Amino acid sequence: MIEPFETRPHDVLVLGAGGAGLRAAIAAKDAGADVGLVCKSLLGKAHTVMAEGGIASSLANVDPQDGWQVHFADTMRGGKNLNNWHMVELFAKEAPERVYELEYWGAVFDRTPEGKIMQRAFGGHTYRRLCHVGDRTGLELIRTLQERVVALGIPVYMEVTATTLFTDGDRVAGAFGYFRKDGRFVLFPAKAIVLATGGWGKLYKYTSMSWESTGDGAALAYRAGALLQDMEMVQFHPTGMLWPPGVRGLLVTEGVRGEGGILKNSKGERFMERIDPVRKDLATRDVVARAIATEVAEGRGSPHGGVFLDISHRGADFIKRKLPNMYDQFESLANVDITKEPMEVYPTNHYTMGGVRVDAETGSSTLDGLFAAGEVACGLHGANRLGGNSLSDLLVFGKRAGDAAASFAKQRAAATVPEAAVADEQRRVCEPFSREDGENPFTLHRELQETMQQNVGIFRVESELRTALNDILTLQRRAKNVRASGSQIYNPGWHACFDVQNMLTLAEAIVRSAIERKESRGGHWRTDYPKPDPEYGGKNLVATRKDGAMRISTLPIPRMPTELAALVVEKT
Ligand code: FUM
Repeated sequence: MIEPFETRPHDVLVLGAGGAGLRAAIAAKDAGADVGLVCKSLLGKAHTVMAEGGIASSLANVDPQDGWQVHFADTMRGGKNLNNWHMVELFAKEAPERVYELEYWGAVFDRTPEGKIMQRAFGGHTYRRLCHVGDRTGLELIRTLQERVVALGIPVYMEVTATTLFTDGDRVAGAFGYFRKDGRFVLFPAKAIVLATGGWGKLYKYTSMSWESTGDGAALAYRAGALLQDMEMVQFHPTGMLWPPGVRGLLVTEGVRGEGGILKNSKGERFMERIDPVRKDLATRDVVARAIATEVAEGRGSPHGGVFLDISHRGADFIKRKLPNMYDQFESLANVDITKEPMEVYPTNHYTMGGVRVDAETGSSTLDGLFAAGEVACGLHGANRLGGNSLSDLLVFGKRAGDAAASFAKQRAAATVPEAAVADEQRRVCEPFSREDGENPFTLHRELQETMQQNVGIFRVESELRTALNDILTLQRRAKNVRASGSQIYNPGWHACFDVQNMLTLAEAIVRSAIERKESRGGHWRTDYPKPDPEYGGKNLVATRKDGAMRISTLPIPRMPTELAALVVEKT
């Protein structure tokens, strides 16, 4: 029997209200579409705020030699050329316009003495390029976009778990889910859907992400028939908090190193001078994360198993002005005064370069009517993302996906969601309550995190990846029998049943792809294949669903036009 459910039809449904989702919703609304915005959490709570140090954009306010061409080349080199180069081209060209637009909408940036938007250095960027608001840039971006969404009157559905995407033939037809606070079911019929659900850091034990980041959007897209790409490319931010244990993984912004912070081992050696004599502490994230892990593994670590990050030489006034958040964070959570003593840091899971395969210009996935933008989408960052590129990514491609979804919706009639499909989904979603003796989703999640942290981390090797794959397949079998008790009203155990199933799907894609890519490149480092292999450099790995099973195959990367290739080569 079908239970009552609300129906909220929209031309364009945006799933996810971080920076990409907000920007997409604004674009679709501006293009004349009727838009609905769904968030898993409360409006304003998004991993976007964890991009603290700035928005990368070649405004050339501080270093006049900068320009889109250098930003393009840096991003390609940082991504080890696995990037979708056309996405990178659009991104580097359009990021400045999107930043000025944000300023026009009210973002309050730090300023140069002449009153221009201030820019700071960050890893892998040739010039000082990160437009920032102290160390709270992501927060300011969210605040600005959120105010605009509210001003435009876009309906926001908060605290919704999306459980499936419906399809009608080969196009997307809507989404289904429930309100977390009271379990009310809701159907969102939509002509077009923009996924902006972010990443899946909660697969790992130590991550800068919070509870929402379970990769729901990517898992839903995969089940609906979209392709996932580059899933093996996982980013570990070099500097996460390490001590006390309760805050392990919390982000220590790269802005600390951008403002002159220095990494040292237990011998007081500035080890990054040895690893990358030119960029030193501002080498790309993959390089710095591996260097820190190596220092610790070789016995040169700090008391709690990390390294030291010291900015005290910049003086208290400077630190409190440029890095107020870091100052408060260490004082209140670790009882460390960073104006006087070093921080203890260790890499933390922070970002996923892989995700839904999209078209560069429109963000459309391989499933008609389904678009993706921001971290859930794949292509821009290749094998390793440069810090600060995520905030400009979500502005550039959030707008592009919103525009394209609105235009798609204008040209199409509404798709159909059969009542029987809704009834089936309701039954599936309620199943965890019907089991007398099932699995605890929190236990499964903990076991998943253990195996991912242990076997699919910064350094990988085939035997450990195979151990992880076995663990994941076992956990998937157990997750079919997952159980919730109590009622549908504000029931975290029930929500966790779907989260863990989504995470297990993505974990399988990460590990299968990591086994398949027999080389080392960016965020994917194989100790049994410690060099890049040109053969793998020319292709992306994609995960598809065939008869309910996951299949990994390859797609060639199209050749870069000569004029773009010349930009990358010249600077290398
Ligand atoms: O370190 C940071 O502030 C993070 C920035 C980013 O991931 O883009």
